[in-house]
Amino acid sequence: MKIINLGTKELASFYVACELFKQMDEYPNSNLGLATGGTMTNVYEHLVSLLKKNQLDVSKITTFNLDEYVGLEPEHNQSYHYYMNQILFNQYPYFNRQNIHIPNGDVSNLDEEVKRYNQIIESEGPIDVQLLGIGENGHIGFNEPGTDFDSETHVVDLTESTIKANSRYFNHESEVPKQAVSMGLQSIIKAERIILLAFGEKKRQAINNLLTQPISEDIPSTILKTHANVEIYVDDAAAPDVD
Ligand code: PGA
Repeated sequence: MKIINLGTKELASFYVACELFKQMDEYPNSNLGLATGGTMTNVYEHLVSLLKKNQLDVSKITTFNLDEYVGLEPEHNQSYHYYMNQILFNQYPYFNRQNIHIPNGDVSNLDEEVKRYNQIIESEGPIDVQLLGIGENGHIGFNEPGTDFDSETHVVDLTESTIKANSRYFNHESEVPKQAVSMGLQSIIKAERIILLAFGEKKRQAINNLLTQPISEDIPSTILKTHANVEIYVDDAAAPDVD
């Protein structure tokens, strides 16, 4: 596991956008695992700019998003469908919509949705590059503390910590959905290369825990220590303590 402090969110986001661009340029059939949240916004902004400037053909790229809230329709402005459309897919509208996969949290039968998403990952994977953020409680995707390391896509009860952290994107904490559909830890760990980003003081403890705590389902991010190809990019504020 490599940890690299690139100083600022801006620089780290540009670096990661370049890495994604290079992957798509060199391997036009790539499978990308995409993440959402405040951490990722600048990455997508830079990526869109690189795609536009170079008019890259993305028609054979396949994308898999990590998660989606239960109960929000895709048009809801806090859904991850909306986020991805606003920030990437509508900005560079040359992705093949058939190849864009995001779990749907707005369905009557969540069990079927979970199966459907697992089958897609199974038949079209593995993921070449997986982007990840990290929760203050160490979650990756929406895999909260205690999630089985063997988990595939599943329905998650969001913890108080996550609901509180994500309330900054909603008008009121009571509006934050209580559940989500998330790619599981086993699905994430199957990716060939994993890039995790963490910015700001609030993520520093999560990064310290990931680096110093034993591998345990109590801290989902520690599963990354079992993977051979993980890079973590941080800014000064999220950089781990040095002894
Ligand atoms: P954030 O979320 O980027 O909005 O901080 C990251 C996460 O919870 O995984």
